[in-house]
Amino acid sequence: MALQLGVCDYPEQISEQEWLTFPKRMKALGLKFVRVAEFAWSKLEPQPGKYAFEWLDRVVDALYSEGLQVLLCTPTATPPAWLIRAHPEILPLDKEGRVRGFGSRRHYDYSSDVYWQESARIVEVMAKRYGTHPGVVGWQTDNEHGCHDTTRSYSPAALEKFQMWLEKRYLEVETLNEAWGNAFWSQEYGSFQEIGLPNLTVTDPNPSHVLDFYRFSSDQLIGYDKMQTEILREHSPGRFVTHNFMIFFSDFDHFKAAEHLDFVSWDNYPTGMLETSNAIDTVKTDYARTGHPDMIALNHDVYRGLKNGEGFWVMEEQCGQVNWASHNPLPADGAVKLWTLQAMAHGADAVTYFRWQAARGAQELMHSGLLRHDGTPDRGSLEVQKFALQIEFLSDAPISNKVVMLHDYESLWAYDVQKHSATSSYWGQMMLFYGVLRQLGLDVDIRHPDADLSGYSLIVAPALTMLGESTAANLDRAVQNGAYLLLGARTGFRKPTGGVWESRAPGPLAELAGVRVQNFDALRPGLTSRIEAFDQKFETHTWNESLELIADDVKVLGKYFDDPLYSQIALTERNVGAGAVMYAGFWSERLLEKSLEHVFARVGIPTLNLEKGLRYSRRGGLVYAQNWSKGGIPLDLPEDTEFLLGSSLLAPHGVSIYREPKT
Ligand code: GAL
Repeated sequence: MALQLGVCDYPEQISEQEWLTFPKRMKALGLKFVRVAEFAWSKLEPQPGKYAFEWLDRVVDALYSEGLQVLLCTPTATPPAWLIRAHPEILPLDKEGRVRGFGSRRHYDYSSDVYWQESARIVEVMAKRYGTHPGVVGWQTDNEHGCHDTTRSYSPAALEKFQMWLEKRYLEVETLNEAWGNAFWSQEYGSFQEIGLPNLTVTDPNPSHVLDFYRFSSDQLIGYDKMQTEILREHSPGRFVTHNFMIFFSDFDHFKAAEHLDFVSWDNYPTGMLETSNAIDTVKTDYARTGHPDMIALNHDVYRGLKNGEGFWVMEEQCGQVNWASHNPLPADGAVKLWTLQAMAHGADAVTYFRWQAARGAQELMHSGLLRHDGTPDRGSLEVQKFALQIEFLSDAPISNKVVMLHDYESLWAYDVQKHSATSSYWGQMMLFYGVLRQLGLDVDIRHPDADLSGYSLIVAPALTMLGESTAANLDRAVQNGAYLLLGARTGFRKPTGGVWESRAPGPLAELAGVRVQNFDALRPGLTSRIEAFDQKFETHTWNESLELIADDVKVLGKYFDDPLYSQIALTERNVGAGAVMYAGFWSERLLEKSLEHVFARVGIPTLNLEKGLRYSRRGGLVYAQNWSKGGIPLDLPEDTEFLLGSSLLAPHGVSIYREPKT
């Protein structure tokens, strides 16, 4: 399938007469498909059981006759007012026990039986009506599951289902008491019915209780999405089903959520992502008009990894200003092209702009579209027009790299529930490693730690804080077979129950690494320490771990240089089987960079040292050199380099694409 561009559109929000002028213009812009019907429930079923599909019939027909493919959405992210009036129990409850009311979106509870039934009904009606229309190529379920903090509801329905879920998982309540460590603070339960939701407690609830509630909420959400997918599959044979995940969303297990989908999509809003992140102010200002290249790239790689490297879509791509961050600057000239090509370089098969025309009313009227409110082309559209035809010549080959980073939602939950250092976080620690890898010019795959890891030269496990025996065995196998494994701070600290490994971190990997964590040190902002390694001193911040050797063939590569860890071991390497393991339990960009240079020299992968703003991504034998800075960057390339786009002088915010020079 050639790479394609599309757009999200909301025909129900303007007059039909005006809308009918759009399909031709979409086609003329070079777009191939249009996503419609998202959030349109009140227009499709204005009263209970009284359907009004005729307008959508005309939309689908008009797009089809223009030669555009139609991607339909189920409208379940927005239950209409009449449904909420009839069944207020659909509304979710927040952590403070307050009802989250009607008047925006996502006001539903994944544990509400009524909502499952009502969703199944509207999905089936739509699937039957449009499922075999020749213009309809696929479906998107709902919209951004979990958005606005909606994965978890603290409702009576959630409580009832949570208790059932626990009973199924533990069978005996004594087993649960043991797993959660309930002897602490007299938290033991006599039956599953005594267990509440982990909110409204006097101080922090038991983290194992929280962890199981997170697992349960994730399962509820996935079950709901699967229910929709099955209905769509039954009535719409041969069409794909996908869901649009969102930037850094973390409240459900995306690997499991991807299993029942044909492919994964995600929504890329680079400037909003940076502004709402905890990046420092200077970074936010430097990249305010493009977003941060590595944050965006990490998301592409995460979503590509959910189905083991298969192609994915960007279902919503920013094409102007967003409206939801605290500051919403106008993107730089060239940013839309930069984002689109970066997505494709990272494995996207399609990029869909959000949205066609800026909304004239309601919550998002400050948000840009390709067209302005009056229908005239906005900056994004003028940019797309210039490059839409060029993307057809780019490679749609699947991506596979030599370096893999491991990612796991259970570790994320366990990490962030007890950060111990407020400025640390699971994603922060992932970004620390990922940023260094990209700075060294490397492309990275992302996989679940239980995935098949054969074929990787370097496996980076930045933050696998929750680690079970079988996952550890998978990593052990990869090392014995020749991979180099790099472990970051907090690896193997917790068991899948949420409690700690009695044998101390890194738990089931201690023997392989030949080390055990001696002390950990949670640093506040401004408090730093130093490590002496590779004949230099490196500053660390946020988190330090010191190590004790438990095997005599472990090489010590670095030691702490300051109190309270002075002279304790900070960095180790051990050869095991055909591979090796490094333990690096600290936060230090510079020392990680140095350690990784050492690792790459060992595994024989060349590295670069890229200047600020320059990034490379590779797909199908093509190199996408990206300039994320405001100045031009000359590329040092052989004279006979074959360019598909751009030249060896990389324009500000520009992209040059060339065939990978033969080595
Ligand atoms: C997305 C969402 C869209 C729209 C957009 C605005 O997260 O899916 O419906 O709200 O944000 O940037």
